Amino acid sequence: MRMRYKPWATKELDACPFFIRHPEQYLGKWHSLFPRSQPVELELGCGKGLFLAALAPANPQVNYIGVDLKDTVLGPAKRNLEAAYREAGREPDNIILTAMNIERIADSMGPEDTVQRIYINFCNPWPKKKHHKRRLTHPRQLENYKKILVPGGEIAFKTDDDDLFADTLEYLAESGFVVTEKTYDLRALNRPDDIPTEHELMFVERGIKIKALWAKLA
Ligand SMILES: C[S@@+](CC[C@H](N)C(=O)[O-])C[C@H]1O[C@@H](n2cnc3c(N)ncnc32)[C@H](O)[C@@H]1O
Repeated sequence: MRMRYKPWATKELDACPFFIRHPEQYLGKWHSLFPRSQPVELELGCGKGLFLAALAPANPQVNYIGVDLKDTVLGPAKRNLEAAYREAGREPDNIILTAMNIERIADSMGPEDTVQRIYINFCNPWPKKKHHKRRLTHPRQLENYKKILVPGGEIAFKTDDDDLFADTLEYLAESGFVVTEKTYDLRALNRPDDIPTEHELMFVERGIKIKALWAKLA
């Protein structure tokens, strides 16, 4: 989905205390950005941040990092998060948003920047074989995630795309992850802890079944 240019986004983000413009400057130091030393969870491709806006204010005992590429989505994510914390009557002290190309995550996050869980929600399926390496679940990326996941750390993945889901199951096995749960119809599970994302709601409305899996680093 192409996002419309938002002239306010860059200025607002650069003035935002929980936004990091140059993530590579925090290699090895992400934990120090949070006032409380506690588990960290990372969302890759957070889009307009509605998933994190539901999760982060409700879970002050966890620190969250949301990553996306462009200010056109990070600007709305910042506003959505601010509104959610306001509504919860809390300060946004357990959330960081950052502009990062996830294909280059190793430049910005290393073994000291441990995370307990990585969420990948509705990433680009890159259907052409020549583009598969760009998928956020490709083994090339999984090797980077392995460097920051704690032992027993988890990847939680959701997609509308059948081929990406099937290939991701193979990628995970190839990279030494163990799939602990999977479903080809997430809505049918009625999981109380499931938070639908913006893209998820769009696909559900079109009658497309949501595929999801949870995988642990053995
Ligand atoms: C289809 S949207 C899904 C957004 C949200 N997770 C949801 O489920 O509604 C994919 C998001 O991933 C971001 N993205 C794609 N490739 C990326 C990359 N290499 N690095 C950072 N973000 C990326 C896009 O900018 C977009 O916001």
